[in-house]
Amino acid sequence: MRIDVLTLFPEMFDSPLSHSILKRAQQQGIADIALWNIRDFTTDKYRKVDDKPYGGGPGMVMMCQPVFDAFRHVRQQHPQPGRVILLTPQGTLFTQDKAVELARENRLILIAGRYEGFDERIRIGLGAEQLSIGDYVLTGGELPAMVIIDAVVRLLEGALGDEGSAEDESFRDGLLEYPQYTRPEEFEGMKVPEILLSGDHGRIAQWRNQQRIERTRLFRPDLWQKYEARMNNQNP
Ligand code: ADE
Repeated sequence: MRIDVLTLFPEMFDSPLSHSILKRAQQQGIADIALWNIRDFTTDKYRKVDDKPYGGGPGMVMMCQPVFDAFRHVRQQHPQPGRVILLTPQGTLFTQDKAVELARENRLILIAGRYEGFDERIRIGLGAEQLSIGDYVLTGGELPAMVIIDAVVRLLEGALGDEGSAEDESFRDGLLEYPQYTRPEEFEGMKVPEILLSGDHGRIAQWRNQQRIERTRLFRPDLWQKYEARMNNQNP
């Protein structure tokens, strides 16, 4: 998958992209990630990327020209047009389902904003969809872009060493994951549940399913409600 990121702070991506799974995915050619500095596409001598909002109000707004020019340049660098995504708290919520959907694309173009937001004509003119990583306001779209890259790239075939591990995890079917334990059998008085030491794989699977249900009810009643509603719809 090709991923282009347009940002005013490409250096912010250096560390997350140069460690662990994201690093390996790039080395193996599973993900080809290119960073572009929007400021490199300014045309005035001050390299201006933002301006005051028409109609007044606080803060500054990202201007059309540098973003449009950056976008047009970037789009030409690769044969696939790609799916264009603006990171903004006004976007639809990024979820695991959305990560799965994006992982099927062959190219993503992520645009991270700063300041009070983008000139509205950027969204319209670039035909971009908007994504938010949660109902809180960050200082820019860089961290959200990194979150999306991380969630998507780990789903690409071959990105995780153990091919099974992206399948067997929280959210795959709307339930949280079962609890995990590793050695030692007892730590500071806390014991590993007996069943996990039994070697009875059928009973272990049953126990894990039960744990998933109980934990979802307890930790994420919102997810549990959705899960129950879906089950009731399927088996009326
Ligand atoms: N930019 C600022 N806050 C954001 C958020 N929560 N999601 C996506 N982009 C953002």
